[in-house]
Order: sequence, then structure tokens, then C-alpha cells
Amino acid sequence: MKIKVATLIASLLLSSNLFANEQKKDNTEEIIKIGREVSDELFKVMGGELKKQLADNNFSKAGHFCSMNAMSMTADVNKKYGSNATVKRVSLKNRNPQNRPADEIEITVLEVYEKLNAQKIELPEIVKKVDENRYKYFKPIKAGMDMCFKCHGDSKTLDKEAYSNIYKIYPEDKAINHKMGDVRGAFVIDIIKGAK
Ligand code: HEC
Repeated sequence: MKIKVATLIASLLLSSNLFANEQKKDNTEEIIKIGREVSDELFKVMGGELKKQLADNNFSKAGHFCSMNAMSMTADVNKKYGSNATVKRVSLKNRNPQNRPADEIEITVLEVYEKLNAQKIELPEIVKKVDENRYKYFKPIKAGMDMCFKCHGDSKTLDKEAYSNIYKIYPEDKAINHKMGDVRGAFVIDIIKGAK
């Protein structure tokens, strides 16, 4: 079973020309280590703040907080890692226009995550070599907690007041109608090997 899943992931990626020349022998351990560290850090910072904001169950206030601070929290993590690594979040159904996938590689990986998720396969981390020393590391983000749907759900699950405020800030919002277990997006870490 393990091998079949690995083969499926590889074939989904290889069906895109972008991944056709991937070097299996490339040593990506260092890249994965940095990718995990940076994505975990942003996850912790954002998750911690969201939890604090939701201590009184006020989704409107928390939504406003996210809208105003998500990007500066991201910038703070990036400052810490200097030229070594740059993190962001992307989504095919982005709310914040700044979280739109930036290139074909990001779109391809998000589409592969959607396909694997539809088959109930655990989503893997993915590393893509961009050029000699540059890599992109991907870690999936799933809508896995009930509270996500207060701000990313449908007419039954959304917090109406919170969402009407969110919609004012993001009139082109695509990040709704999610169900438990959906792919919400991914962390992408741009990593330069050997940089300090
Ligand atoms: C209180 C409202 C609120 C809750 C609860 C919430 N989000 Fe969001 N989410 C937002 C807002 C507002 C944005 C847009 C601002 C930003 O983060 O860039 C956003 C953006 C995102 C993004 C970035 C991609 C995009 O669409 O712009 C991801 C990924 C995400 N949310 C995942 C989640 C997950 C997973 C959960 C549940 C664990 C969750 N959110 C819970 C309000 C919320």
C-alpha cells in the first residue's frame, strides 16, 4: 500500500512538465528540516494568536485581528530567518489576495494536494528544486477544526457577523464553503541552500 501511494504521488507530480526533471538523488534532507522548522513556527505563532483572540469566542474580533495581522506575523517570522528562508501561505481558494499562488509550481502542488485529498490519501510534504541552490518546500494546511468553519464554512456554519466583516475587507473572498478535512492551502517556504 505504501509503495502504491508513493507511486501515485510521483505520477501526479510527473504528469506536470514542471516536475519531469526532478532529480531523485538530490539530497533534500536539509531543505525538509528548514521547511518544517519555519512552517511550524508560523503555524505556532498564528495558531497561538488565534487562540488568544478566541478566548471569549468573539469571531468578529478574531477575524478582524487575522485580517490586520496575518501578514505582519508572517513578516516577523521571515525577519528571523533572514535570507535563508521565506515563508508564506497560498490557497487555490484564497481569501487574502496576497495568498494567491504565485507560479505554476505552487498551483501544481495545490492541485496535487486536492487530488490526493479526494482519494483520502495523507498529504505529503513536497520539495521542488527551483534552481541550483533554491528550493520550494510545501506543507499542506487542512481545515481540520470545527472553529475553522466559523470563518471558512457555509451558510450553516459561518459566524454571520464575523463573516460580514471579513467580506467587507475581502470582497473577492474565495475561502468559504469548506468542509471538515478540505485542503485549505499550504505553507510554502522558499529556501536557499547554504545561505545564512
Ligand atoms: C476568526 C475567523 C477565522 C478563523 C476561525 C479561521 N480563519 Fe483562516 N483566515 C481568516 C482571515 C480573515 C484570513 C485572511 C487573512 C490572512 O490570514 O491572510 C484567513 C486566511 C486563511 C489562510 C490563508 C489563505 C487565504 O485564504 O488567504 C489559511 C490557510 C487559513 N485561513 C486557514 C484556516 C484554518 C485551517 C482554520 C481553522 C484552524 C482557520 N483558517 C480559521 C479568518 C479565520
